[in-house]
Amino acid sequence: MADVNVLVLVGSLRKASVNRQLAELAVESAPEGVVLRVFDGLGEVPFYNEDIDNEDIDNEDIDGEDIDGEDIDGESVPEPARALRAAAEAADAALVVTPEYNGSIPGVLKNAIDWLSRPWGQSALKDKPLAVVGAALGRYGGKWAHDETRKSFGVAGPRVIDDLELSVPAALLDGRHPRENAEVAGALRAVIEKLAAAVG
Ligand SMILES: Cc1cc2nc3c(=O)[nH]c(=O)nc-3n(C[C@H](O)[C@H](O)[C@H](O)COP(=O)(O)O)c2cc1C
Repeated sequence: MADVNVLVLVGSLRKASVNRQLAELAVESAPEGVVLRVFDGLGEVPFYNEDIDNEDIDNEDIDGEDIDGEDIDGESVPEPARALRAAAEAADAALVVTPEYNGSIPGVLKNAIDWLSRPWGQSALKDKPLAVVGAALGRYGGKWAHDETRKSFGVAGPRVIDDLELSVPAALLDGRHPRENAEVAGALRAVIEKLAAAVG
C-alpha cells in the first residue's frame, strides 16, 4: 500500500521554535507507512491578496477582454504560494503545529490558511483530514490558537478532526526537546496515528 503523506505546517518561524521541535518529533516518530514532511517556505509566502491570486478566477470584462490586459492563467500567483498549494495537493492529510500569539493564530499561519482556502471550494486540502497541535508558554499550551486554527481551517476546506487535541504548556518541557518527554511524544504519536487512520 502507498505511504500516507502528511503535510506539516509550523506556525512559528523562530529558529529555536518549540513548535518546530514538535514538528521534528512528529516527522521522526511517524509510524510505518506514514511520511510527514515539514513545509519550510511559510515565511516566504506573501500576504494573501486576491489581485495576485488569479487561478480559476474569471477576470474578463463583458467584452471578453482581460480587465487589466494581463495574463489570466494564474501566472501572477507568487512561487512560494504555488509551492504551498503543490505541497498540499501532494498530501493526503495535514498536521498543523503552532504556538499562540496574542490569544490567537500567528499571522504566518493564518496567511497560509487563506492561500490554501482558494480557489474557493477547490482547496488543495479539500476534505483531507487535518489535526492541530502545538505548544505555547501559557498554562493552556496555546489552546485558544489551536481552537481558532481548527475553526479557520474548518471554513477553508480540509476535514478538521476536532477531537485530536494536543496543547502543550512549554513549561512541561523544561527547556528540553519534546522528544525527551515521553508523555508528549506518546500523545503526539497517537495524534499522528489517528490522523493517518482518518485518510480514506
Ligand atoms: C507575538 C507573540 C505573542 C504571544 N502571545 C502568546 C499568547 O497569547 N499565549 C501564549 O501562551 N503565549 C504567547 N506567546 C509566547 C509563545 O507561546 C512562546 O514564545 C512560544 O515559545 C512560541 O512558540 P515557538 O517556540 O514555537 O516559537 C507569544 C509570543 C509572541 C512572540
